[in-house]
Amino acid sequence: VPVSHIRNFSIIAHIDHGKSTLADRLLQFTGTVDARDMKEQFLDNMDLERERGITIKLQAARMTYTGRDGQTYILNLIDTPGHVDFSYEVSRSLAACEGALLVVDASQGVEAQTLANVYLALEHNLEIIPVLNKIDLPGAEPERVKGEIEEIVGLDCSQAVLASAKEGIGIAEILESIVHLVPPPQDTVADPLRALIFDSYYDPYRGVIVYFRVMDGVVHRGDRIRLMASGKEYEIDELGVLAPNQTPVESLHAGEVGYLAAAIKAVGDARVGDTITLATKPAKAALPGYTEAKPMVFCGLFPTDAAQFEDLRDALEKLKLNDASLHYEPETSSAMGFGFRCGFLGLLHMEIIQERLEREYNLDLIITAPSVVYRVTTLKGDVLTIDNPSLLPEPQYRQKIEEPYVQVEMITPETYVGTLMELAQSRRGIFKDMRYLTQGRTTLIYELPLAEIVTDFFDQMKSRSRGYASMEYHLIGYRENDLVKLDLLINNDPVDSLAAIVHRDKAYYVGRALVSKLKDLIPRHQFKIPIQAAIGSRIIASESIPALRKDVLAKCYGGDVSRKRKLLEKQKAGKKRMKAIGSVDVPQEAFMAVLRLK
Ligand code: GTP
Repeated sequence: VPVSHIRNFSIIAHIDHGKSTLADRLLQFTGTVDARDMKEQFLDNMDLERERGITIKLQAARMTYTGRDGQTYILNLIDTPGHVDFSYEVSRSLAACEGALLVVDASQGVEAQTLANVYLALEHNLEIIPVLNKIDLPGAEPERVKGEIEEIVGLDCSQAVLASAKEGIGIAEILESIVHLVPPPQDTVADPLRALIFDSYYDPYRGVIVYFRVMDGVVHRGDRIRLMASGKEYEIDELGVLAPNQTPVESLHAGEVGYLAAAIKAVGDARVGDTITLATKPAKAALPGYTEAKPMVFCGLFPTDAAQFEDLRDALEKLKLNDASLHYEPETSSAMGFGFRCGFLGLLHMEIIQERLEREYNLDLIITAPSVVYRVTTLKGDVLTIDNPSLLPEPQYRQKIEEPYVQVEMITPETYVGTLMELAQSRRGIFKDMRYLTQGRTTLIYELPLAEIVTDFFDQMKSRSRGYASMEYHLIGYRENDLVKLDLLINNDPVDSLAAIVHRDKAYYVGRALVSKLKDLIPRHQFKIPIQAAIGSRIIASESIPALRKDVLAKCYGGDVSRKRKLLEKQKAGKKRMKAIGSVDVPQEAFMAVLRLK
């Protein structure tokens, strides 16, 4: 295929605005996938993703399209994950494209997450084609939404396509726009090979399958390649295109998108953003933009049953093969025993991994509350990074503590502005800007400590706005604050896994709320259990759980055996997600209590 007849594009859309449906339509219209084979949406294919209605992993598809001009084009659709945790991946897949469809639900409007991705696309100089989807809906207001796109994004919407992915309206127009508005790749076929990795996954038989876009030069099956960031070299066993199933080819040249297998052992060896070049004739410089995505949120994972520790290690190792941004290292807690401290890109990433460990690996885990990474300067001037509150050096050893800040952008109907401002303010937010959009919609910009976001900020925002607000955030740097370590004592013993780092002004409130929450969550035992919160040696809140009055089994003695067994079984089931700390059984919810104080 001549480079002039290739178009590489992605689809930017807010969750539920119809990205997958549209992608399916494009595949169908171009005959890439048979309607009969398309029982399920083709692009998202992980169960977990479908269940949560989000797209996490990127995929790509190659379509052949004969335009109205009679010419045949190759259109490569490169999908982008729709969540803020994965914005680095999004930026790499956008870097592999020359254009993007901006799909907006014409009955809703522009959402915060869409905006974040549009800005990324603009940064990469992509040609953006607005598509107003769902025009079949009676509530569709394409003119209003066009106005909103022009106003917020500053995009000219005179060429916007009105579409209904569901009804198949506007699909031909979208394909024509791609051909005519998205520029072809530059013809750099003669240059040394440089290919951009935008996704990869682990296949137990072939090793890592790498998805890439050839930026310059040509790559052949059998070539010896070098990954410029990792420095590792491999021989290509298999090279192909995604049509949309993997279809082997002999070579791919500049502008094309494809996959390769080269007996690569873990995705960490072929990271998203790395540049593939030829070992024999390497390019001088790697493609720009490579970074290693850094984990932002940490938590402890402990098996409820200590015997599952090795299983947990194996499971993490397996997940890591497929997820270069998952971090973990063994952690020993005096309260919880042996487990792992794990780092994630964000809260969603954390939830996904936890869920997979439990569902796919059948592990019973106790998960401690998420923590961000603090920067502590000691009196001696050393800078420590602390991702575990229980490891915070005592005040007498430290000069200052800094915490990560993010800029948050929320888009909401005007009615909820008040309650969302209140929410941001209560989370130590600094008001930055407020703008009115069309039709009573408003955008709010705040700076907030990341620690305040990783608690239940998102859930709060959704419930306060009845689901209508959307948000996006990105890291803006570290700032010093007056932070203290809050210790929790159960039965007079400090429980390291319950320690939290909080702002001094909030410490009393959090301490009291936490103690009373724990009192409700921890079941009664045969003895009285004091629960306390402390800063250093000072107790700031205290409650106690009264002892059980009677042995539960007492009334069954001599009685009906089956009833007794039933009771015991009930107790056992109740114990499932419990961790014995000293002589007290603490349920999973207690470790998350700090996230749900109000
Ligand atoms: P994620 O994969 O979660 O990011 O969502 P998505 O943007 O891919 O949305 P998806 O294609 O799954 O569509 C969301 C819902 O909108 C589904 O119930 C679709 O059937 C519906 N939908 C998509 N396009 C249209 C359309 O043109 N008209 C109508 N009425 N419904 C549509």
